[in-house]
This record gives sequence, C-alpha cells and structure tokens, in this order.
Amino acid sequence: MRSKLKAMKNPKEFDVIIWGASGFTGRLVVEYIFKKYGVGKSLHWAMAGRNQAKLEKVRAAVADARVPIVTADSHDRPSLDAMVGRTKVMCTTVGPYAKYGSELVAACVEHQVHYCDLTGEVQWMRRMIDKHHEAAVANGTKIVHTCGFDSIPSDIGVYFVQKAAQEQTGQRAKAIDMRVRVMKGGLSGGTFASFSNTIEEAKQDKSIYKTLVNPYGLNPEGEQSGNDKRDLQTVKYDESNQTWMYPFIMAAINTKVVRRSNALMNYVYGKDFSYSEAMMSGDGFSGKMKAYQNALILGTIFGAKPDTFLRKMIDKFLPKPGEGPSKEERESGFYKFHFYTTLENGSKAFGVVTGDKDPGYGSTSKMLAEAAICLAKDDLPKGGGVLTPSTAMGDALLKRLEDHAGLTFSFKV
Ligand SMILES: NC(=O)c1ccc[n+]([C@@H]2O[C@H](COP(=O)([O-])OP(=O)(O)OC[C@H]3O[C@@H](n4cnc5c(N)ncnc54)[C@H](OP(=O)(O)O)[C@@H]3O)[C@@H](O)[C@H]2O)c1
Repeated sequence: MRSKLKAMKNPKEFDVIIWGASGFTGRLVVEYIFKKYGVGKSLHWAMAGRNQAKLEKVRAAVADARVPIVTADSHDRPSLDAMVGRTKVMCTTVGPYAKYGSELVAACVEHQVHYCDLTGEVQWMRRMIDKHHEAAVANGTKIVHTCGFDSIPSDIGVYFVQKAAQEQTGQRAKAIDMRVRVMKGGLSGGTFASFSNTIEEAKQDKSIYKTLVNPYGLNPEGEQSGNDKRDLQTVKYDESNQTWMYPFIMAAINTKVVRRSNALMNYVYGKDFSYSEAMMSGDGFSGKMKAYQNALILGTIFGAKPDTFLRKMIDKFLPKPGEGPSKEERESGFYKFHFYTTLENGSKAFGVVTGDKDPGYGSTSKMLAEAAICLAKDDLPKGGGVLTPSTAMGDALLKRLEDHAGLTFSFKV
C-alpha cells in the first residue's frame, strides 16, 4: 500500500531508458524505437550513455532532438542511481557486462526497477544470480539477461513448443533437439570483446570454467544436475534427424538459459526434460564436408590461443568495439531454427522459429527493444528474481515478437 502511494506521488518520468545508445547495438535499438514508437506518444523513453557529445551525434543521425538524453557512467554509482530513479525499466547494451554491468544490476534491484540486457556472459550471469536473485524475488524486481539472439529464439522457442505440444496433444515435450537450419549475419566488436573477456576470466579462475562447462551452470544452487551432457564439441552425424551437425557457438549460453527457465517454473517441462543445440549441415557427403569446414573456421576464430601469431592475425580482421555488420548485411540476414521434438509417449513433433534481419544486430535490436517495452507495459507473470525471457515475460513477449519483431513460431505433430 505504502509503495503504491509512493509510486502515485512520484510517477516515473520514463517507461524505458536505453543505456549504451552510443554503441553499435544501442544505436540500432534507439533507431528501432524512434521509428516504431515515436517520441512523447504512448511510450516515454530516453537514450543514455556516458558521453553527451557522442549521444547527441547518434541522436541527430537516427532520431531527433525531442529524444531526451541521460548521462551515467558505470564507474560512477550515484550517476547510475540517479538514472535508474527516473525510469520503470532499464535496458542496457553497455558491455562487456562483466566489466561494466554489475553496479547497474545492483542499482535496479535496490530501486525496484525492471531490467533487461543482451549479455551472453554466463560467468557474470552466475554472479548476478548468486548476488541478487533472493533480493529481487523478495521485492518483485525482474532482472532479465539474454534478451537478444542469445537466448530469446531458443528460450521462447522451447516455451512455445511446450505450450503447443500441451494444447495439441495433451503431452509435454520430453526432449527437444534444436538445430540451426540456416543463419546469415555477422558479429560486432562489442561481442568479440565480451567473448574475449569471458575467456580471460575463465583462465584466471577455475570455478568460472566449471560454470561454463556445466550444462546446468545457471540453475539454482543444489539443482545443477540432470540428464543433459555438455554441448556438442565435434562434428557428428545425427541419426534420428538424418543430418550432419557441428557446434553452435551460442549453445553454451542458450541451453543453460532454457534449463534455468525449466527449473524456475518448477520443472513444468519435466525433471527429465532434455535439450540440445547444434548447427545442421544436411545429409550425405556435402553435409559432412560443410560440417567439417564450418567447424574448422569456428574453431580457428574462437579457439586461437591469446598472444599467438594466429590470434594476432585473426584479431586484425575482426571488428573493433563500436563496429559491426553493415546495413546491407543486417537487412539481408535471417535465421531458421528447427525444434525436433519427442513427446512423452515417444511420438515425434516439429517446431520452427524464424527471424528476419541478421540475428546478432538487426533482429537482436528489435527483440531487446520489445522485451524492454514488454517489461514496462504488459501484463506479466507475477514475481521477481534474476529471470529468463520466458519466465519473466512468457506469452506477452511471444506476442510482441510475432507482432513487431519479425519472428514466427510454428508447431506440427
Ligand atoms: N546477445 C546477443 O545476441 C548480442 C548481440 C549483440 C551484442 N551483444 C552484446 O551487447 C554488448 C554491446 O555490444 P556492441 O557491439 O553494441 O558494443 P559497443 O559498440 O562496443 O558499445 C558499447 C557501449 O558501452 C558503452 N560504455 C563502455 N564503457 C562504459 C562505461 N564505463 N560507462 C557507460 N557506458 C560505457 C560505450 O559507450 P562509448 O560510446 O561512450 O564508448 C558504448 O555505448 C556486448 O556485450 C555484446 O556482446 C549481444
């Protein structure tokens, strides 16, 4: 009652603040929201970052002077508290999150402000869960990581398949193997910086490595075991779906998020639910060759050891922070996920999730923006905590993704 009265006395100035608006992805989020929702209409929003001049430049390029600018630096907690105090939802693209994100999460939990981000840094998510989950449950704040390509299509995809299976067959899905059928897009410098930071942290702390390789590494304490093994590390033939497959770089994040969703929903998918992800390259000799060739390329880019000649050569060609795929690359990108599903009685079913634009930026910026607006405006599942997209937003986010963000979801038995 007292907090309701307080909220009525101090209505928030903004529904959403986008922090990191001067970066590659933040700028795309601002551009999307400006084009789709305008300024001063049903959505009250602001763009934020640490550098006023840079923000003004971005605003002039992708929006207009009516969009308010807020400044806050990750190293200056009072500036974060002041920013968080002005909004219902904080949406952040300031990364690497393990370097710059912790104080913002702490401020959001303290001020009871819902939060969403794009992190795929499992070790940092683990730290945020351990530090803030209980307090966020107690005060009803929703802290939602992984609201981009990792892990919305996987997490909401499984949520959708499980619901559709129940509705159409009365059974849950006992196992789902997600295979990436096609994917076209590039990576940004910020993503490489976050990836390199995770590897650096894991080198220095063995417990981080343990979290990264534990399939249940994001599950609640005491619930970190189950049927699933580590994500695919090699090229392999998938007998049941008759395709060659090779490692999917995002599986290490997505599969853990899906398992955390199941645990947070009291194992609504079943305690024995099994989930895997891999890239598929088709059947026959060409499928096999494609799998080996792509696995080799990925292994070289992500596996080259630090401080070696090879690493230095590769880094020369990778985008720097602030850089990423061109507009043409973003517009011509797309992705399609197959969800090969086994129901409780052993019969098979099939789900598909597709997205337009390139996965990491064109599609991600729309998913993140819609997640932030969903947290601010929609009727959501009750309760707070360090949540996942499906446990925080469920059907409301699924609807927004289909209506606005260019994703499709289908299921057949
Ligand atoms: N999950 C996904 O699907 C997905 C997709 C895309 C990106 N991401 C993640 O999103 C993050 C951003 O990627 P990006 O390519 O947009 O990176 P970026 O272009 O390097 O942008 C980083 C942003 O952080 C800001 N920043 C840096 N230090 C700061 C500080 N101390 N205080 C306040 N702001 C600070 C930068 O501000 P300045 O401009 O002032 O330097 C910039 O706005 C990365 O962690 C990346 O891995 C994830």
